[in-house]
Amino acid sequence: MGRVEWYLLMLPNKPERDFPITRILGIETSCDETAAAILENGRALLSNVVATQIDLHAQYGGVFPEVASRQHIRTIYGVVDQALQQAHMDLGDIDAIAVTRGPGLAGSLVVGMNTAKALALARNIPLVGVNHLEGHIYSAWVQMPNLAEPSPNPPQFPLVALLVSGGHTELNLINDHLQYQRLGATFDDAAGEAFDKVARLLGLPYPGGPSIQKAANGGNSAAFNFPRARLEGSWDFSFSGLKTAVLRVVRQFEKEQKELPVADLAASFQAAVVDVLFTKTMHAARHFNACEILVAGGVSANRALREAFLAQSEFTVHIPPLSLCTDNAAMIASAGYFRFIKGQRDPLNLDVLPTWPLS
Ligand code: KG4
Ligand code: ZN
Repeated sequence: MGRVEWYLLMLPNKPERDFPITRILGIETSCDETAAAILENGRALLSNVVATQIDLHAQYGGVFPEVASRQHIRTIYGVVDQALQQAHMDLGDIDAIAVTRGPGLAGSLVVGMNTAKALALARNIPLVGVNHLEGHIYSAWVQMPNLAEPSPNPPQFPLVALLVSGGHTELNLINDHLQYQRLGATFDDAAGEAFDKVARLLGLPYPGGPSIQKAANGGNSAAFNFPRARLEGSWDFSFSGLKTAVLRVVRQFEKEQKELPVADLAASFQAAVVDVLFTKTMHAARHFNACEILVAGGVSANRALREAFLAQSEFTVHIPPLSLCTDNAAMIASAGYFRFIKGQRDPLNLDVLPTWPLS
């Protein structure tokens, strides 16, 4: 309670402003990152704080939900405090608090939600619940401060959006802000989950995506011809066959007591995932006459995937900067801004939704 009291006692009331600036405080705790950020008018990033728990979970080879929620409790107020300080602001400058409502780990979501509610109640600030997947999509709207290059234009509708994270892999057609038509999704593992599981098979550390990317650096991507589940005629994905194919090769090497060619296996696996994701997204963009393509979620940090999209010139492709690919609160603040200006105000008894779909 100490820190909540601090906010209550120390901060002045919200000043009246007569210029059209909307500042959103975003809060994200859906999995293993405790994050807060402040964003102006849905795009300009004023501060972005992420306290990662990767080191804590690495010993378990994946996210341990109980450990995650306890760590969020320890970190959240410091993270929010830091986000305000970095932006040289206090809660009086904030027009709305956007918080991840789901999907995610229930115990983790609750920590961010309760923090957001406490601040909203204490300072009479509107509360906006945001879908985490929508947040990933809106990471493409966020402009990094102090970039030497001019900021890219915002994504133009209609968009085909490939969402590739640790828990989800789906293709959406987005005709306008906050309107999602799900074209297809994975039948089994999410792309990030496949990276994480295959990394474990290859003895590489958690999180698997960056480990596989690193190992693949010195490998031959044509060494193993792993299967690509094209699922022709649908916009769905499947990665379980690919994962099993890697497992079979690993078992064979173990049986023959031969050293595992980790780099070649990582490179060949990565190439198969990238091939399927890239090809299907391009087909969908053509089929639905998309204006542009958006790629977001943790796996969009993958260099080979980014290079595949950046190498083509048929579509403008929006992929967030690396720091906004994995979980962060800037993306939640951006999605929250577009909901806020549309009039969304959520009640203080808002509940978390651990399995909340995007559409
Ligand atoms: O979006 P995210 O941070 O969390 C979820 O919402 O799930 O995504 C995390 C996932 C993990 O599975 C991680 O292995 C994967 O993103 N990932 C990557 C890379 N960086 C993170 N996968 C492939 N290549 C990367 N460089
Ligand atoms: Zn995520």
